[in-house]
Amino acid sequence: MESNIEKAIDDIKLDTVEDRIETAQKLNSALSMEQFSATLDAWASKFTPEYMEELSHKCYDDDRNYPENFSNWFYHIKDFGYFKCANVIANQIFTWEETEAFRHTDMFDEVDWNKINKILEPTLDKMDKYRIYNIKNGCFSNKFDFKTCNATKDNLAKQLWKINYRSAELETGGYTELVVRENIPYIASVTPTIYNGMPLREELRVFYNMDKQEIEYIEDYWKYKYCEPYISSMTDKIIFNWFHNKLETRKVQHRERLQELKDIIYDNIHTLKFDGELKGIWSIDFMYVDDATSYSGLWLIDMARGFRSAYWNVDKLTYSTRKKMIEEMKNGR
Ligand SMILES: Nc1ncnc2c1ncn2[C@@H]1O[C@H](COP(=O)(O)OP(=O)(O)O)[C@@H](O)[C@H]1O
Ligand SMILES: [Mg+2]
Repeated sequence: MESNIEKAIDDIKLDTVEDRIETAQKLNSALSMEQFSATLDAWASKFTPEYMEELSHKCYDDDRNYPENFSNWFYHIKDFGYFKCANVIANQIFTWEETEAFRHTDMFDEVDWNKINKILEPTLDKMDKYRIYNIKNGCFSNKFDFKTCNATKDNLAKQLWKINYRSAELETGGYTELVVRENIPYIASVTPTIYNGMPLREELRVFYNMDKQEIEYIEDYWKYKYCEPYISSMTDKIIFNWFHNKLETRKVQHRERLQELKDIIYDNIHTLKFDGELKGIWSIDFMYVDDATSYSGLWLIDMARGFRSAYWNVDKLTYSTRKKMIEEMKNGR
C-alpha cells in the first residue's frame, strides 16, 4: 500500500526530481533514511524507458496542438490587406522521430549535424546559398540573443538547435516546427540594434477580438516601464533610452509615432481577414519599418492568444467584451 508520505508527494505533482527530493525531505522528517530511500526508489522505478517514450509522445502531441505554433495560426490569415508579411520560405513540421533526433544530446559539440541536416533537407532545398533568413521554431525566436534569429543555408541546423535549446530551458514550446522567413533588412546608419543585432523599431501589439472582428486595445510592444528594467547590457540601455526619447538626438518622437501608427491600424484593420477558425482575443504584433524604402510599412510579425501575451489586461478590454466574459463565466463556459 502506498504510504501517506508517498501519496502526499504524488499529490503535489512536482516536476523535477530535485523538487520531489526537497519536498520528500520536508515531509519526511519522521521517516528513517532507509524508508526514505525505499520511497524514492519506488517512485523512481516508474521512469522506465517505455514510460519516458510515452511521455515524449504526449509532449509532442501537446506541442503540435499548441495554438501559438506558427502553423496553427498563420494559415488562418486569408488576406493581409493593408499590412505586409514576410514571405514564408519554409514551415517544416517535424515528426516525433525527428524531434527525438534533435534532442539526442544536450551537448552542442556532440550533435550529429549530418543527421540534423538530413532532417532539414526539405527546408534547405528552398533556401538560396548566400541569403540570410529570419528563423524561429514554432513559437520562439530567441530574439533576446538575436544573432540566433538569422540563418543561412550553411548554419541553419546550428541556429535552430540553439533556439530549441533556449526554448527548452524557458519551456516556451514550439520545438516541433521550424519557420524560415524572408529577412526584413535594416539600414544601420538609421536604425540601431539591441539584443545582439535586433533592429529596434516601433512595434505595436494589437489585442484583436476575432469574434467581433474589432480591436480591443493596442499596446507599445517596447513599453518603457515593462522592458527597461530587464535590459541588462549598458549599450542596449542607452539605445533603448534614445528610442524612447529619454536621450536627445532621436528625431522621431516615439509617442507621436505610436499614435500615428495606432490610427493607421484602426483605420486599416478591417482589411486584415481571417478564415473564422481562430476564436476569442488574440494579440497581433506589427513592426513598423521606415528605413528601407521598399520595405516601408507595417509588417505582421507574430500572433498569440491574448491571455498568453505580455500586456494582457482584462481591464483594458471594451465594456461589452468584459460583460460577455462575465456572463460566460457565470454560465460555466
Ligand atoms: N522576417 C523578419 N525579418 C527581420 N526581423 C524580424 C522578422 N520577423 C521578426 N523579426 C524581428 O524578430 C522579433 C521576434 O520575432 P517573433 O516572430 O515575434 O518571435 P518571438 O515569438 O520570439 O517574439 C520581432 O520583434 C522583430 O523585431
Ligand atoms: Mg513575438
